[in-house]
Formats: sequence, C-alpha cells, structure tokens
Amino acid sequence: MRERKLKLIGNIDGVGWSHTGWKHHDMPSNASESINHYVEKAKQLENGKFDAIFLADVSHIGPGMIPHYLSMFEGISILSALSMVTKSIGLIATIATSYADPFTVARQVASLDKISNGRAGWNAITSNPGGLANYSRSHLSKSDLYPMKKEFLEIVEGLWDSYEDDAFIRDKESGIFYDPRKMHPLYYKGKYFSVDGPLNVSRSRQGRPVIFQAGTSSDFMDIAAKHAEGIMAPGDHFDYLKGYTAELKRRVQDQGRSPDDFLMMPAQNPIVGETEKEALEKLKEIESFMPIGHRLPRPQFIGSAENVAEQIEHWYREGIMDIMLIRQNGPSGFEDFIKLVVPILQDRGIVRTDYNDDQPTLRGNLELPYPESMYTKSVRL
Ligand SMILES: Cc1cc2nc3c(=O)[nH]c(=O)nc-3n(C[C@H](O)[C@H](O)[C@H](O)COP(=O)(O)O)c2cc1C
Repeated sequence: MRERKLKLIGNIDGVGWSHTGWKHHDMPSNASESINHYVEKAKQLENGKFDAIFLADVSHIGPGMIPHYLSMFEGISILSALSMVTKSIGLIATIATSYADPFTVARQVASLDKISNGRAGWNAITSNPGGLANYSRSHLSKSDLYPMKKEFLEIVEGLWDSYEDDAFIRDKESGIFYDPRKMHPLYYKGKYFSVDGPLNVSRSRQGRPVIFQAGTSSDFMDIAAKHAEGIMAPGDHFDYLKGYTAELKRRVQDQGRSPDDFLMMPAQNPIVGETEKEALEKLKEIESFMPIGHRLPRPQFIGSAENVAEQIEHWYREGIMDIMLIRQNGPSGFEDFIKLVVPILQDRGIVRTDYNDDQPTLRGNLELPYPESMYTKSVRL
C-alpha cells in the first residue's frame, strides 16, 4: 500500500484558547464572533493546502472560562458559511452526543456534507457533564454519557445510510423520482433514543461524513474503536501517545477494522521562527500578555522551521501522528507554519503539494476509503 502522507488540520479558535490571547495587538478582540475572521483563517489554511478546518466546542460556560468560550458561534453555522468561500478543505464540527439529538445531528452534518460537496466531518464527543444542566438532561449523570454515545452513533450511522447511493432517479420522462426499495428506515429502539428514520438527506459524494472523536478513558476507546475514523488526542507527551495509540489500534483490530484507516490526531501548538532565537522571542511575546509569573506550557514543537519539521517527521514516522492538529498560540501561528514549515514538509515528501482534484472530499484529503452503504455491503463469509 502507498504510504499515507501526513495530514494537516487547523483548529480555528477565535481569539485563542488561552485566557490572554485576545490581548495580542494583532488579534481582533471579537474574533470568536467575527465571521470575517473565520473566513480569513479558512482561506489561509486552504492556501496552505491543509486537509481540514476543525472547530472545538463547549457545552457549559461560567465565569472564569477562557474568553473564546464565553461568546462564540455554533460550529455547523460557521462551517456552512465557510463551505461557500472554500473549495477543497474539509470542514469538521464538534457536537456532543450527551446533549444533542441524533436525528438532528445526522441531518445537520449530512446537510453540511452535501452543501460542501463531500467535505464534512463530525467530532463526536461526550463533553463534560456540566452540559446536562443546559440541555434539560439533569436527570442523567456522568455514567450515562458513554451508553448514550453508543446509541447516538449507531443511530447517526444508520440514518446516514437511509438511502443507497443510486436511490434517486429523478427521471422526468418516466416520472420516477426515487426507488423506494433503496430507502431504508431504521426502527432503532434504545434506552435513551428511539428513532424510526429514514433521514431525509441522501448520501454525499464521500458516502458519509468522517467521524472523529476525542477522549482518553477505556470506555471512550471501546466506542472509538468501533465508530471513529480519527481521534483527537492530547499531544503533549510522546511516550503516553505511543502507548495510547498502540492500545487504540489493538482495539480497532479487535473490531475487525483496519488500524491503517484509523487516524491519530494529536493537538499541537507549534511556535516557529526562521531561527531558534526568533521562535523563543515569539514565545516570550505571547507570555508577555499573561499575568506576571504565568508561563505558557512549552509546546512540543518550538524552534527553527528546520528543527520543527524534523521533530514533526519523527512523530509521523513513529506512527503516533497521522494528522497534526494545529492550534495557534498567537495570531500568526498558522501563517508562520504555512510559510516556514509546510514547504520543508513538502520537500521531504511528507505532506502533499496540492489537493487531489480526482477526490475533492474530506475522505479524499485524508486518504480514507469510501464507506459502502450497510445495505449494499457484500457479506463477508
Ligand atoms: C483531546 C481532547 C479534546 C477534547 N475536546 C473537547 C471539546 O472540544 N469540547 C468539549 O466539550 N469536550 C472536549 N473534550 C472532553 C471530552 O469530551 C470528555 O468529556 C473528556 O475527555 C472525559 O472523558 P474521558 O474520560 O472518556 O476522556 C476533549 C477531550 C480530549 C481528550
């Protein structure tokens, strides 16, 4: 098999995911509620040939949280807007299975997938239990979150296969709009959710949206091994990630799936300069906005572009970073990375130099296989 390239995904976090990022003189202080800011970043990432845009989310806020979480847009709304000003880059939204409704999520993400012509992904997380109080589910508790998530994913996957690929004929002459034999209701009855289906959205150019998940517990790993195609993971400890990846991939294999098509995506916040000195100056500048005595946790990837590219290649070759998820520490984080590091990674043949016009979908970007409908899949003996 041809070796899959390293994938790059940019996490756009509005004013940033720290308490003080909004204070930087180059950061618009309303970035988390500015569609213009998101459009600018999306275009920058697409020019840099990134594989996707990723949006994290929060389900419950209160005083003391980071400014970005205090006033931010909902993910599907932002990505729908971005789908109209981009062409090739994937669009991944985070939506918690603990609080949403599976029919609605299946419909929203499938709609985004069709609107963007096959570029949607969904990061299915449990989120923290605080959200129960916001979504009228205070009668449930933390122990319900994973059993609920399992049902949620089974329903969404089932709904995304409501129609076979060729169900819609739309032939005006014969008067046949669709073939009812290729429409499949679900009739799912669970403890938390009951959904008849079918969904009123047909399959997209990439079959169905790509499912990501994020978490670390054993319950998380069991569900991810069955339903996820990519995992957002903490990216701050090489050794931890090595063990975590091995364990997850073992569970994926136990599910009869190919570990090669299960992508590890540690979150990173690289700080890059032309030289090591310049990178350290950027770190110092970011820290200057923090209260006296506070320091930024040292990023995994910091230094000159050559040095950072070298470290990235190491993580990639070790099999613990199939996708590098990049969050910006400062307002020029994406720009620095695209200008200084991407060309080196391209020269080394680790990332691709352009989008693949034959497969202009999120799955195409990530080199993931096309998922056949569960109703047409050949039965393995
Ligand atoms: C890498 C990573 C990213 C996460 N991103 C989010 C997020 O964007 N929004 C959110 O509400 N929770 C997020 N979570 C929290 C998880 O949804 C979950 O509540 C938490 O990991 C506890 O579950 P666990 O013990 O099974 O990992 C994230 C967790 C991890 C590990």
